[in-house]
Amino acid sequence: MTAILPNLSRMLVIYKGAWGWIALSQLFVVLGATFMLMIPAQISTLIDQGVISGNISVVVDSSLAMLLFAILAGAFSLANLYIAARVGEGTAHYLRKEIYRKIQSFSFGNLDRHPVGELLVRLTSDIYQINMAASYSIRFILYAPFMILVALVIIYTSSPSLVWIFVMVILITGAMFGIISMLLQGQYRARQHDLDAVNNVLQEDFSGVRVIKAFVRQDYENNRFRTLNEKFRAASLSPLRTSAFILPAIFLILGCSNALVIWYGGLLVIAGTMGVGQIIAFTQYFFFILGQLWILSFVLPQIISAEASAGRLAVLIDTRPLVTDLDGEETPAPSGVVGRVVFENVSFSYEGPGGKEAIKNISFSAEPGQTIAFLGPTGSGKSTLVHLVSRFYDVTEGRITIDGTDIREIPQDYLRSIVRIALQESVLFSGTIRENIAFGQRDMPDEQVMAASVSAEADAFISVIPSGYDSHVARRGANFSGGQKQRLSIARAIAPKPGILILDDSTSAVDVATESRIQAALADVIPGTTQLIVAQRISTVLMADQIILLDKGEIVEKGNHQNLLARSPLYREIFESQLGGIRREDIP
Ligand SMILES: Nc1ncnc2c1ncn2[C@@H]1O[C@H](COP(=O)(O)OP(=O)(O)OP(=O)(O)O)[C@@H](O)[C@H]1O
Ligand SMILES: [Mg+2]
Repeated sequence: MTAILPNLSRMLVIYKGAWGWIALSQLFVVLGATFMLMIPAQISTLIDQGVISGNISVVVDSSLAMLLFAILAGAFSLANLYIAARVGEGTAHYLRKEIYRKIQSFSFGNLDRHPVGELLVRLTSDIYQINMAASYSIRFILYAPFMILVALVIIYTSSPSLVWIFVMVILITGAMFGIISMLLQGQYRARQHDLDAVNNVLQEDFSGVRVIKAFVRQDYENNRFRTLNEKFRAASLSPLRTSAFILPAIFLILGCSNALVIWYGGLLVIAGTMGVGQIIAFTQYFFFILGQLWILSFVLPQIISAEASAGRLAVLIDTRPLVTDLDGEETPAPSGVVGRVVFENVSFSYEGPGGKEAIKNISFSAEPGQTIAFLGPTGSGKSTLVHLVSRFYDVTEGRITIDGTDIREIPQDYLRSIVRIALQESVLFSGTIRENIAFGQRDMPDEQVMAASVSAEADAFISVIPSGYDSHVARRGANFSGGQKQRLSIARAIAPKPGILILDDSTSAVDVATESRIQAALADVIPGTTQLIVAQRISTVLMADQIILLDKGEIVEKGNHQNLLARSPLYREIFESQLGGIRREDIP
């Protein structure tokens, strides 16, 4: 089994807590099957030594024994069913927990490779397949072969000349299962893959449903979904079509071989080498064997389909986060941070070394307490650059240091506690406003939450909501405006008073007057904090100690507003285009 279904075998033993239960269940399997197998022998005795010989006490004893064996076999089967369900659910629960944790450990680069829809399928449908496979395996993987083998041995010891019929049936059925299993594995893999595609579109469309409506893209999206849905339907049908052969084939084999047994057994009875009771018992054994093959015909496709799912889960379990901490590192004391950020010839490509570089050969230094602004056209690499400071990705070339230490030597959790970022897309979480602002530090005092919110110009709109800081925030912050969400994100980033603050276009939806109040407040409340500010709007960068002008991933100019205005034609062009109506003398 291990070699045939390697990933599934791995998933089935992954949940260590199940071992004791599995051992107990297999004991029950053997006991249940044994009692079941003892019934036909009683039939043989009942007919040959009881009914035919007219011996009432044998009839009574055998009937009672049959009843007892049937009850015991049923009880063990019931207990087994319970254990199977328990282990199946336990395995699914364990996998959900582990894989969820694994996904949480992924860095941005890993997440780029696994769309949300695909992760959802893996955490739901794929794990469900494993659940089913685990419980079926517990119930039938030993039960069916055990029943078949023991029935064969019983038949062989009492009538060797009949056994060839059974062996033939088993060989034919085995070969059929082998071929069908191989076909099914590929088909189930394709089905789960197409299910990913359906879910990815669903996830994208539902989260972007407002944009779809705004751009009247419903027809286009409907068509896109219809095509993928159709493909999934076809992919789901093909394994069903393949498995549909199994049952009729089993019935055909059953009918033919039953006729053979009765015919051949009949000859033996006429020849006087076999009793009538024996032939009836054999027919019973025969039905046991076929019954087990029949059950396997349902169960094996399920188990095989789980191999495809197990393979997909194994990929997640085996994924190593692209950004990792060094082994055995000591977390440096927070008091050590003063916030000097230096980029030394940093290049980065999303595709890894040798790929197209999103930023190239970037060098600059930010002294503690300084504000460095990054200005540049869309796609020029501003977000990429600041993401590297938080180690969302590791640099491809060069190095970034904070207070002289290469950030790859700083544990990520600690690094992210000193470098706080308001991402370009403000995402809030369901909960209260207070919880959202104190997101990274659950026990943050209320005054600190409030102070951050005042600096981020969020207090003004929070205090007019009746429940204030306890107001409900909808999922992804859907009940706040773009500018409000941005201000809450800024409050969330500054609340823990970080050594380094990154604002990625965080005031783009805020009016210029509010923006300059936020900047002034930040300079007041976190004066020692180094600020890295990304902007497309020149008003955002006017006050910066240093403005770095980026284009196509490279630094084209560096300096403060006055130097750049005097020196850089590109900066002047941006300035004229954005602030053309404002007199230069009015600007500091
Ligand atoms: N996750 C990603 N995977 C692959 N390429 C990416 C990824 N994110 C950004 N890029 C590419 O890297 C380049 C720089 O993108 P980046 O987001 O840094 O630009 P930006 O300057 O922040 O733009 P904007 O002002 O629009 O936010 C772009 O060409 C973009 O296509
Ligand atoms: Mg950006």
